[in-house]
Amino acid sequence: MTLRLSSAGESHGPALVAILTGLPAGLELDRTAVDADLKRRQEGYGRSPRQQIEQDRVEVLAGLRHGRTLGTPLALVVANVDHKNWTWGMSPWPPEGAPTGKGTKPVTLPRPGHADLPGVLKYGHDDVRNSLERASARHTAVHVAAGAVAKALLATIGIRVVGSTVDEEQLRVRIDEARSARDTVGGIVEVRATGVPPGLGTYASKDDRLDTRLAGALMGIQAVKGVEIGDGFLLASLLGSQAHDEIRTDRRRDTNHAGGIEAGISNGEEIIVRAAMKPLPTLMKPLASVDLATGEAANALVERSDVAAVEALAVVAECAVAWELAVLALDKFGGDLVDDFVVAHAAYVERIAWA
Ligand SMILES: Cc1cc2nc3c(=O)[nH]c(=O)nc-3n(C[C@H](O)[C@H](O)[C@H](O)COP(=O)(O)O)c2cc1C
Repeated sequence: MTLRLSSAGESHGPALVAILTGLPAGLELDRTAVDADLKRRQEGYGRSPRQQIEQDRVEVLAGLRHGRTLGTPLALVVANVDHKNWTWGMSPWPPEGAPTGKGTKPVTLPRPGHADLPGVLKYGHDDVRNSLERASARHTAVHVAAGAVAKALLATIGIRVVGSTVDEEQLRVRIDEARSARDTVGGIVEVRATGVPPGLGTYASKDDRLDTRLAGALMGIQAVKGVEIGDGFLLASLLGSQAHDEIRTDRRRDTNHAGGIEAGISNGEEIIVRAAMKPLPTLMKPLASVDLATGEAANALVERSDVAAVEALAVVAECAVAWELAVLALDKFGGDLVDDFVVAHAAYVERIAWA
């Protein structure tokens, strides 16, 4: 069974939900490890006070008993603590009583760079909130929880995935400058995966290439506008003799321009991918827009927002990469039971004599 993930949840709705199907039975999950990743996602320089309101914790509704997966769908929930201020505004059913709390008035001032305008045009909404709530990156929380589960599975075969920001010091300087100018910034994150054996992904079909999957997973994260595998864009300016990683007799490489992927397959070297994040589009000094209610020129909506979320993206990207590697590892090694998965991996690395 293929490992699959579905999620649901609005930014200020009652909760975020993820359902993971295809996980083997017997995988031990550590609640503190999942919560630690949720906390890492909320931290980071340049984030807004929303992060102090939400102290994300995972709840499990199904698929786990006494800390071990059952081989049945795993249902993860991250509650939106802030929902208590939006119970009328974000009520799933027609709200009762007089409007109270937040989100009671329709938003009609679309923010450039957000889902606001294309979303309302596409879906026929008369309140921009009906688009922005789901388009918001708030639901990356539950994808991080799913990624934490994927990391637990990968750890059983010695794969470790770590995300970080590129040039953290310079990023913090840019964030300080942007904060004083009431502006926002983006940045670059890198994810590295070690212990990946050769053979995850395939050139057999375009959709199943490891680089396709990783690029799609990273590009699927809000605000990511560029993805690089290995030396990526730099490779375009190199000569062939400089760009490729020569093969030693032990089949390892001294260089890793390819970022551990050749022809859509892991080659046993470290997987290295990068994602570029655009500056966050909610601005305290709003850009020009239109009031959709009147058709008049107006400034875009100003809503509490981060100056930067690059450190958070590093965690979200790490979890997205971990998820894709877990999908492809399960494709390769199978197993309804995690012990079978581990045994199949061991037999494979023995067959190819991979140290
Ligand atoms: C972890 C994370 C946090 C984000 N926080 C904010 C934020 O506080 N304010 C904002 O305007 N955009 C934020 N974004 C970006 C928007 O969600 C994103 O730019 C928007 O939904 C439009 O999608 P697009 O940039 O992919 O086109 C965040 C993105 C991520 C990954």
